[in-house]
Amino acid sequence: MKKYKIAVIPGDGIGVEVVSSALEVLTHVSKNKDFEFEFTNFDWSSEYYFKNGVMMPEDGINQLSNFDAIFLGAVGHPDIQDHITLNGLLLPIRRAFDQFACVRPSILYPGVDTPLKNIKPYDVDFIVVRENTEGEYANVGGFQYKNFPDEVAVQSAVFTRKGCERVIRYAFELAIERNKKNHVTSITKSNAQGYSMTLWDRCFEDIKSEYPQISTNSLLIDAACMDFIRKPSEFDVVVASNLFGDILTDIGAIITGSMGLASSGNIDPTGKNPSMFEPTHGSAPDIVGKEISNPMAQILTAGIMLSHLGENESANELENSVKKVIESGEILTPDLGGNSKTKDVTQAIISNL
Ligand code: NAD
Ligand code: IPM
Ligand code: MN
Repeated sequence: MKKYKIAVIPGDGIGVEVVSSALEVLTHVSKNKDFEFEFTNFDWSSEYYFKNGVMMPEDGINQLSNFDAIFLGAVGHPDIQDHITLNGLLLPIRRAFDQFACVRPSILYPGVDTPLKNIKPYDVDFIVVRENTEGEYANVGGFQYKNFPDEVAVQSAVFTRKGCERVIRYAFELAIERNKKNHVTSITKSNAQGYSMTLWDRCFEDIKSEYPQISTNSLLIDAACMDFIRKPSEFDVVVASNLFGDILTDIGAIITGSMGLASSGNIDPTGKNPSMFEPTHGSAPDIVGKEISNPMAQILTAGIMLSHLGENESANELENSVKKVIESGEILTPDLGGNSKTKDVTQAIISNL
């Protein structure tokens, strides 16, 4: 029997609710299979910060390093500034484990109501590959004259040739593996960011010549935001810097129905470090405790984790089960137009497995 050791960090807000649902589903999907999970819970979160003054212990990264994967809910609390919580837990994990490819699929499933007009199920089916360790999130900068009238803040973006090339190459490999439109779109803002983004463009040109079978185009981020709404069906694999990928994937989520469906994986493709699986959405303080958070994004994220572990059959089972619940339209949380609770949706998904 294979055993996967999973570090579970429910985190904050609805993260705790949806992780608990997804763990139930994962336990179910592994029944009668040749693998099992060993979940180890870590209470690192804003509550942990209130007690200890830090988001995770000093050797936190070390504690996670021998797991097969990390399964995280969300981080963020209304009473703590976000840069403290996120720079204390989520972002250091992505960087320390070199999870440079963040994959975020957007699929319009049958039965989902989209704000877009004249569009059918599966007309939207793309995946954003977001650079996940450098770029605008490099955490380089500082203040001068803090809290004085002449205060200066510097926040530097860091783009390296290695960092650009490896994530762009990952996008091309993914387009081949998907074998859908065999197309990669690169997103930059080279008209205004004449150093970092033109390095990215040159890397894109170099890598694309290695993949003559894949068609390509390049868009500026502002136009790309428009086209995600105007003609989302034209995209297949989209590769973007850290910040641009972050913004684009909230658009990708809402045109395919809800943040509550948006799955995500932070992948170290070399396999040297554990990858981390967390949905695109945050801790949603506006709905926490109301028992109406949609667990589907976390459950679909568990599906990405299963594929990453090589359990493709179980990953498909899980996605199909979510799709069935959506399509029947009977048991849905309010973000998808229903009036069911988190636990009812979870049970409906389990009963389809
Ligand atoms: P959010 O994603 O938490 O919420 C945005 C909107 O989407 C809210 O109206 C929320 O109710 C809704 N929503 C999100 N997930 C949902 C779900 N599963 N079911 C139903 N509705 C859902 O974004 P925000 O409000 O900008 O951020 C809240 C906090 O979360 C902040 O502290 C932010 O920094 C943090 N955050 C964390 C992560 C993460 O941990 N990966 C991601 C994004 C935001
Ligand atoms: C996401 C989130 C995070 C990000 C925040 C919370 C730092 O928005 O995972 O999309 O920007 O990466
Ligand atoms: Mn985001």
